[in-house]
Amino acid sequence: MPEIAKVAVLISGRGSNMAALLYAAKAENCPFEVVLVASNDPQAPGLKLAEAEGIDTFAHPHKGLSRNEHDQIMHEVIVTAGADYVALAGYMRILSNEFVRQWQDHMLNIHPSLLPKYKGLDTYQRALDAGDSHAGCSVHLVTPELDDGPVLAQTEVAILPGDTADILADRVLIAEHQLYAPTLAKYVAREADPDWILEQVRTRALALAETHERPSFGTPGWRVGSEKTGKYFAYFSRRHFGETGTSVFVKTSGLDEQSALLDADPDLYFTPKFYGKSGWIAIRLDTGHTDWDHVGDWLEKSWRMVAPKRLTKMMDIAAEF
Ligand code: GAR
Repeated sequence: MPEIAKVAVLISGRGSNMAALLYAAKAENCPFEVVLVASNDPQAPGLKLAEAEGIDTFAHPHKGLSRNEHDQIMHEVIVTAGADYVALAGYMRILSNEFVRQWQDHMLNIHPSLLPKYKGLDTYQRALDAGDSHAGCSVHLVTPELDDGPVLAQTEVAILPGDTADILADRVLIAEHQLYAPTLAKYVAREADPDWILEQVRTRALALAETHERPSFGTPGWRVGSEKTGKYFAYFSRRHFGETGTSVFVKTSGLDEQSALLDADPDLYFTPKFYGKSGWIAIRLDTGHTDWDHVGDWLEKSWRMVAPKRLTKMMDIAAEF
């Protein structure tokens, strides 16, 4: 069973979306919990609510600090809180590229428009001025460009005759509160979905030179070399080979390295029952906080173990540039 995802919520004001996340997290089977509410404004009303609900809070004004300095302070607090995800909820600060990079694919935002329409501010008035039939809200992944990342979900909100920006904002807010938690829940749960995990491994394995996929004992495996003489460098295991959970098997340099890894991180590595004696190691992929770069590095290392010399030489030369 994967752990519950830990979420830090960043706010700048009222914090009603934060509250919606907080209360959604109390429902049975919600796959996330809120471990921190942080703000760039110590006066943000949402902080008081979070505190009253027993959530750790943190505030640090951005005045007098560079964007990078302030973001770094927030980053450290979020990491210390043990958060795997950041949910922006009315956090009215443009984030530094560094911060966005640090939380890439793990930071979501809610925005009061049907993106890609009306990025930035005044979204309601702009929808009214344009004569749109609908306004709405979007939850998206955060990328360096403002309000630009991949949209995960949207809700349309009808515009009524006589709507003002304020009236419309109130109605869009109701939709926001309904949209954010389920979207976040679905997003964090994908890291426990074996199909999604397989796709992550597959993409990285097939990105290596001269590789192909071939099932082995009914589970996907990846080989380097020709269809005829290729050698396996990774196997995917979804409760295969008598294992539980989802993992990938890669080749170590031998039993010494295998046991060093087991000592160093027994939560991440285990000995695959079927292949263990030949120095393969299993890496758990369903912990909910897989470091995919690390998995990518392992696949390459394993690929190198069995790839023909001409290919590894090619890689070494390429790496020099
Ligand atoms: C929400 O409407 C949110 O969509 C918006 O600020 C409000 C915050 O309210 N966010 C943005 O405009 C971000 N570009 P809240 O503090 O009550 O959640």
